Amino acid sequence: MMLNMSLTTPFAVYVHWPFCLSKCPYCDFNSHVRHGGVDEARFVRAYATEIAAAADRVPGRTVSSIFFGGGTPSLMQPASVAAILEAIAKHWRVAPDVEITLEANPTSVEAARFRGFRAAGVNRVSLGVQSLDDAALKELGRLHSAQEALDAVAIARANFERYSFDLIYARPRQSLESWAAELRRALAHAGDHLSMYQLTIEPDTPFFGLHKAGKLVVPNEDLARDLYDLTQAICVKAGLPAYEISNHARPGGECRHNLVYWRGHDYAGIGPGAHGRLTIDGRRVATETEKRPESWLMRVEAAGSGLIVDEKLTAGEAADEFLLMGLRLAEGIEPARYTALSGRTLDPKRIAILREEGAVETTTDGRLRVTLSGFPILDAVVADLAA
Ligand SMILES: C[S@@+](CC[C@H](N)C(=O)[O-])C[C@H]1O[C@@H](n2cnc3c(N)ncnc32)[C@H](O)[C@@H]1O
Ligand code: SF4
Repeated sequence: MMLNMSLTTPFAVYVHWPFCLSKCPYCDFNSHVRHGGVDEARFVRAYATEIAAAADRVPGRTVSSIFFGGGTPSLMQPASVAAILEAIAKHWRVAPDVEITLEANPTSVEAARFRGFRAAGVNRVSLGVQSLDDAALKELGRLHSAQEALDAVAIARANFERYSFDLIYARPRQSLESWAAELRRALAHAGDHLSMYQLTIEPDTPFFGLHKAGKLVVPNEDLARDLYDLTQAICVKAGLPAYEISNHARPGGECRHNLVYWRGHDYAGIGPGAHGRLTIDGRRVATETEKRPESWLMRVEAAGSGLIVDEKLTAGEAADEFLLMGLRLAEGIEPARYTALSGRTLDPKRIAILREEGAVETTTDGRLRVTLSGFPILDAVVADLAA
């Protein structure tokens, strides 16, 4: 019997809420502060309009995950989240076991809304804890203390089936000992998932200027590598191994939404600055919407969607993207899928060299994956294989 792919292939919806209470000095995400407030009802109507437009292009799909990312979606009213979820359910079938995640900042004001988010349908939260050290939180420009973050984690645990939190490491003046102690403390509060990002100094952020002026010193490459290795060792021991470069989970606790990106499945991007990947008439299409919130709003109101990029990828582009995303995963990729996408096979000589260097390995079932020691040089590995 032929399976209906639309019912079985994962399909995700990403919803971007681009507003924050203040801008963290390291962050270059599409996030904006609006001291005069936000016309939330008007934005929510525009999200519903854009959802309808996306569903027109890829009708009949079954939504397996929804992710409210930001910015700070926990600043939304629960009723707004409910309205967006209703719009999604109006236009697509939603899987009975759908994963619905909302990114939350761990302040008490936001934690107070958790019950409302749960009632709206959210079943997983991802909290931006970032650190359990108050001085570090201050330096990162965060509006919460470590205790407030842990209180929010406890409220998340009481309200949601699943929760995750983010930590940033390789911070200024961080030693191996202090990070090990902080991470062990964090693990005592972990659910089934943790994201751990090394601090990156992004262009056009206040941290970039400070770093350039020598006023913000981050760990050098060797220490960063040691911090990474230490993180892996501690998390494996705690039962949360990495299933992706920066993401750790207990078996079965992986974020299904992010797996859609990394396994090369389709996702619709809704809201200002959201990216999407849709398969239309057998071709993979890259979409991107207008970043500036108010310009996006006006575009949607005038034209039904905020799309500014709507591009068919070539076979080579789709295959390279599959490689770049798939090799981030500990499970690696199926080389045959690369061949099906690109029409060429990965060069066995290059694979052999990378294997000898210990950067990649082939599993018994024929998958190609990057090793733990290859992960810190992933970009170089991918560039080598894709060339
Ligand atoms: C865009 S934020 C949204 C979450 C939420 N607004 C918050 O800050 O808690 C997603 C995550 O990206 C990470 N992040 C953002 N900028 C980063 C940077 N420059 N280096 C490392 N991690 C970063 C943080 O851990 C953050 O929780
Ligand atoms: S890290 Fe989160 S709260 Fe801070 S500016 Fe970025 S999106 Fe907003």
